[in-house]
Amino acid sequence: MIEVDGKRVRVRDGITVKEALEIRGYKITKYPEKGSLFAPCEIGGCWSCAVEVGHELKPACITPVKDGIRIRTQLPEDYTPKRIVHGFSGHTVGGVGTPWLLKATHGYIEAACFAAGCNLRCPQCQNWETTYTGKGKASTPKEAAEMMTATRRKFGVDRMAISGGESTLNRRWLVEYVRELKMLNPDPNARIHVDTNASILTRDYIDELVEAGMTDIGPDLKGYYPETFMRITAIDDRGLAERYLNTAWDAAQYLIDRYKDRVFVGVGIPYNKELISVQEIGLIGEKLCEIDHEVQVCVLDYRPEFKRRDLIKPGYEEMVEIHKLLKEKGLTTVICQTGYGHIGPEL
Ligand code: FES
Repeated sequence: MIEVDGKRVRVRDGITVKEALEIRGYKITKYPEKGSLFAPCEIGGCWSCAVEVGHELKPACITPVKDGIRIRTQLPEDYTPKRIVHGFSGHTVGGVGTPWLLKATHGYIEAACFAAGCNLRCPQCQNWETTYTGKGKASTPKEAAEMMTATRRKFGVDRMAISGGESTLNRRWLVEYVRELKMLNPDPNARIHVDTNASILTRDYIDELVEAGMTDIGPDLKGYYPETFMRITAIDDRGLAERYLNTAWDAAQYLIDRYKDRVFVGVGIPYNKELISVQEIGLIGEKLCEIDHEVQVCVLDYRPEFKRRDLIKPGYEEMVEIHKLLKEKGLTTVICQTGYGHIGPEL
């Protein structure tokens, strides 16, 4: 017997708190919705699904029920969110939202960390241990911001990036983290950079992040067509895939239209001919060009990783062709990741 929001209920042993809540009729979702429990990663990484078990915050998706436990789904207004974030280190390449001119320099250019858990299931994920294993201690936003600030000092850089996994999953955590980071780094040189798949990055979420202090962002656009998005991400629910993809495109447009003068925006596009056609890359280029022909676009050469060891890494010449195509579409700041480093805007 357990207690859920004051009601005593009988559930079988061995299930998780999330499963117990589902059985009791609670709505669990893969896209944040009011009145539902958002459980996007299900590996105990993002803590978006956190509830109170006893008097402790716990991720519902991996916490087992035990006889006599008390679960509270409505967290107090002033609760402190937690999330697993690790890999604080100096970075020499930067991410999608790193300006090209910095990528082209040598040495450390950013301090970076990686948030565990993702809502997507990309079989070729390039950071799959962070994304799918949920290892590590969960940190509060303040703890993570302190670690990031120490990493900035250690590597003598001004940029502080968070990537993943998917950095945006636990909204309250990310907004508070950016705010804390801003307070610890009030100098005008400090840059707070978020790399994201942008699939749940709604306009009000963007407003909140900018208000908190985010200065740079790299949204990914994993396709023009939903079918491509589904192939790349292994999200097999078409409605959900469309919602994620539409949100990502809208986020890119809104960021550029509303915040171009205040926030650096660099867009990421995946390329591997097994996952997306050259023609579709052209369509993405045209659509981005309509939004802003000057926006930085970074094409990522998707390579054999994780469960897709069979993929063949795009060759250098192939990436040169993609680069030319996007330039022909009118984009002026195209960079392409290759096995030999980046191809810059000027070929
Ligand atoms: S959904 Fe439970 S930790 Fe991410």
